[in-house]
Amino acid sequence: MAVNISYQGRKYELQDGETVLDGLMRHGQDVPSSCKAGACQSCLMQANDGNPGSKAQIGLKDTLKAQNFFLACQCIPDKDLSISLPSLSDTTIPAEIVGKEQLCHNVIALHLKPSADFSCRAGQYINLLSENGSVIRSYSIANLPEQDGFIELHIRRINNGTMSVWACDKAKAGDTVHIRGPAGDCFYIAPDNDQSFPILLAGTGTGLAPIEGVVLDALAQGHKGEIRILHGALSENDLYHVDMLTELAKQHANLTYIPCVLNMKHDKPGFHTGPLDQFVMHILEPLDKTKLRTYFCGAPEMVNILKKKVFLAGVASKNIFSDPFIMKNKQ
Ligand code: FES
Repeated sequence: MAVNISYQGRKYELQDGETVLDGLMRHGQDVPSSCKAGACQSCLMQANDGNPGSKAQIGLKDTLKAQNFFLACQCIPDKDLSISLPSLSDTTIPAEIVGKEQLCHNVIALHLKPSADFSCRAGQYINLLSENGSVIRSYSIANLPEQDGFIELHIRRINNGTMSVWACDKAKAGDTVHIRGPAGDCFYIAPDNDQSFPILLAGTGTGLAPIEGVVLDALAQGHKGEIRILHGALSENDLYHVDMLTELAKQHANLTYIPCVLNMKHDKPGFHTGPLDQFVMHILEPLDKTKLRTYFCGAPEMVNILKKKVFLAGVASKNIFSDPFIMKNKQ
């Protein structure tokens, strides 16, 4: 029997096996969405009548589940549903921009001070919403919010990217934004209080944000094992936080930081020239794969290649963490 979705006073019939998001979009409805993979939570909706199913609530906070919120891209209902978009006041909190810094030619850091308690872990991601909530993008937490008193996000300017162009060109200290979250499992954990395992983190572009978050958290918790950060970029121009990470590595004997540039005219001390994935495998070789924990963030093609390669090299899948975003989600 056909399933109908009631939304904004109209009924829409879903095709067999179709998600709520795909069904609404097929009927010309403009619903916020991005990854379509259950990761970014930008397609959050609320069931006012009917059951969205537990699969559509995976990864949501218990408070949201209890109020029948669900992810439209993961929801294939077997009975009729009446649904609505969440109001800003129900699911987000305002945050003030308390700082903005140009990190390189096309990346900024935005510092946000939430107006209420916002419990989150460095390396997790949050949703940033436009003023009316119609544009939602996810960005990772690059710092230790509790210690710093603000959340740091790294945002790369993408031409025609609504959110990134606003953030890079117009946003200023004193402006208010809305945030939702946090979500994701890309953060530091030390199982059984063992802090001796090696960690290898590799990322491209603003994939450095969650990597910095994880590393700062690991160091703050007194991690003893080796930590290696590899940050990849097409050219030296695209790197950022080189001085900050070099300094951090000087202060911690167990931390190594190597910027990796694909196209560099001349070799430079401390830098690696060449493809990031090949260098990751080179660094990985002597490490104990049974204990190693890896974090890969940034360009999805690179992340997927690295995940596959290190798994085949013997790293357990439970020890491979990644930033789940696709590029569209960063715009
Ligand atoms: Fe549904 Fe990303 S679009 S979770």
